Amino acid sequence: MTQEELKKQVGFEAAKYVQSGMNIGLGTGSTTTYMVKELGRRIKEENLKITGITTSNITSKQAQKLSIPLKSLNEVDRVDLTIDGADEISDNFQGIKGGGGALLLEKIVARYSKKYFWIVDESKLIKQLGSRPLPVEVVKYGSKQLYHLLKNKGYNPQFRTINSHKKFMTDNGNYIIDLYLKVIAKPVTLAKELDHLIGVVEHGLFLNMVDKVIVGTKNGPKTIDLFQN
Ligand code: A5P
Repeated sequence: MTQEELKKQVGFEAAKYVQSGMNIGLGTGSTTTYMVKELGRRIKEENLKITGITTSNITSKQAQKLSIPLKSLNEVDRVDLTIDGADEISDNFQGIKGGGGALLLEKIVARYSKKYFWIVDESKLIKQLGSRPLPVEVVKYGSKQLYHLLKNKGYNPQFRTINSHKKFMTDNGNYIIDLYLKVIAKPVTLAKELDHLIGVVEHGLFLNMVDKVIVGTKNGPKTIDLFQN
């Protein structure tokens, strides 16, 4: 099976957990695209009644095209379930997110969801976090100074760019500095440190958050229950 087929498999599997009446957090990325598409189909063909709370402009656009009713997080009294992808998941189910730059809204929506699921193909499961860059969303003002501070700490930072001259800008008008760390031995310690740096808006360490991971494999979707809280 191709990676794309595995993404589709978990996207469709996750959509089965969605029931009428739910407020659903809709993640961002190539895997969640399949889940959103399937929800659109169920709304049209099965009369599924849900409200979506999106985590990025790109997911909002996809959901609108599929006529999925949307509300912002501030307009709902609860989010029943959020389904999102991940860049890396370690063997103790800590994650890195933000490869697509949507980490801030993804983390906010996840934090205020009753249940939080990740959907990934099996390439995302690794032993220890860090082989992929850790995204840090930063305020533009003073970002040069923050970059140097991160560099002096040995975190191997790089501004994310969309071409060699233009810095990538998030939906929230901030920059992303990616940290090329190779190994993150102490994710909790690093998360606390980043949380306290002035100018950091949010980082891509999603720790002790996920309730269920659905992994795409050639033998079908594998579901791992974690039940946080
Ligand atoms: C978006 O900013 C990310 O957090 C994505 O959820 C994550 O990168 C997974 O994306 P893919 O499903 O495209 O790999």
